[in-house]
Amino acid sequence: MMHEKVGLEEVFDRRLDFPDMDARKRFLRLVGVDDAKSRLTKLLGILVNPAGPKQWAEKHHKGAVTLLDYVERRPPLVVLAGDVGTGKTELAETVGDAVARQEDISVTLYPLSLSSRGSGKVGEMTKLLSAAFDEVIRAGEKLKRPNNAKASGGLILLVDEADAITQSRENTQMHHEDRAGVNAFIRGVDQIAQKRLPVAIILCTNRLSAIDPAVRRRAADVFEFNRPNDAQREVVLSSPLTEAGFSAADIHRVVAMTGPQKGREYGFTFSDLTQRLLPTLVLDAYPTKPITVARTLELLTTISPTPPFRDGGI
Ligand SMILES: Nc1ncnc2c1ncn2[C@@H]1O[C@H](COP(=O)(O)OP(=O)(O)OP(=O)(O)O)[C@@H](O)[C@H]1O
Ligand SMILES: [Mg+2]
Repeated sequence: MMHEKVGLEEVFDRRLDFPDMDARKRFLRLVGVDDAKSRLTKLLGILVNPAGPKQWAEKHHKGAVTLLDYVERRPPLVVLAGDVGTGKTELAETVGDAVARQEDISVTLYPLSLSSRGSGKVGEMTKLLSAAFDEVIRAGEKLKRPNNAKASGGLILLVDEADAITQSRENTQMHHEDRAGVNAFIRGVDQIAQKRLPVAIILCTNRLSAIDPAVRRRAADVFEFNRPNDAQREVVLSSPLTEAGFSAADIHRVVAMTGPQKGREYGFTFSDLTQRLLPTLVLDAYPTKPITVARTLELLTTISPTPPFRDGGI
């Protein structure tokens, strides 16, 4: 029914409050994304705590009103884009902890529920998005303090796997309903910006090119994620394989074998290493044998990396 109220449990997955030790551990474990980590943390920090830049200016650039005004007017949206298994979701889910610690403020993550999206009923997506933005705006208004004083907390709305929602309206194949979804999203972003709420929106996608230009234009920053290079695979593999008794030379062989090869121009993704290779080594040996280098090299010839997500278009 069209006027049915959407329950909050249907709109969001479990909300997460930061600081949180587990999130901190996951955040610190992410390799090769230091630049994204620090830029994203600052950007979100400014959004959820507009008083921060004021204090900074007070100290370093007294009276820099225009400069501050532009910073305050930054759009509340950031995009994390790139190949599969490269840390987009992991970073989006944990960066709230870094923001909370940096700004000394409590931050809550509102993950838009994935499960409630696929039903495909007409109007469903638009209703879901409107309900999500309504709630986040309501919560944001409660946290906001007058005169840009430090808010009593910040919110992050996470829209993961966003392709379906924010696909280009230019796409003529697109169903009328999807266009309404894009419009609801843009409306929500603009409302948050206008009201200057301590709310940031993170959008994750495999396909930057599929994202509607009006959505992209509203992004304060776009972070691109890639598969790990040799050095990054080595950082990920080094401690678990050392624990398994591998020498530095053994680890180098595994690093080389998980990289691009003759006849395969792409290497393993981060998740191929952490969620497939390492558990496979353990399960193969478990429960009676130890992990060995010889068996690892043998197994490696049977595991193929996830093919890259080809982002057709511009
Ligand atoms: N940069 C990284 N450093 C270390 N481990 C990583 C990194 N990126 C991903 N991983 C590992 O891979 C797992 C999956 O990562 P994540 O879910 O963030 O991928 P994603 O980029 O969201 O992929 P998809 O596009 O398929 O959703 C993580 O839980 C983590 O174990
Ligand atoms: Mg993901």
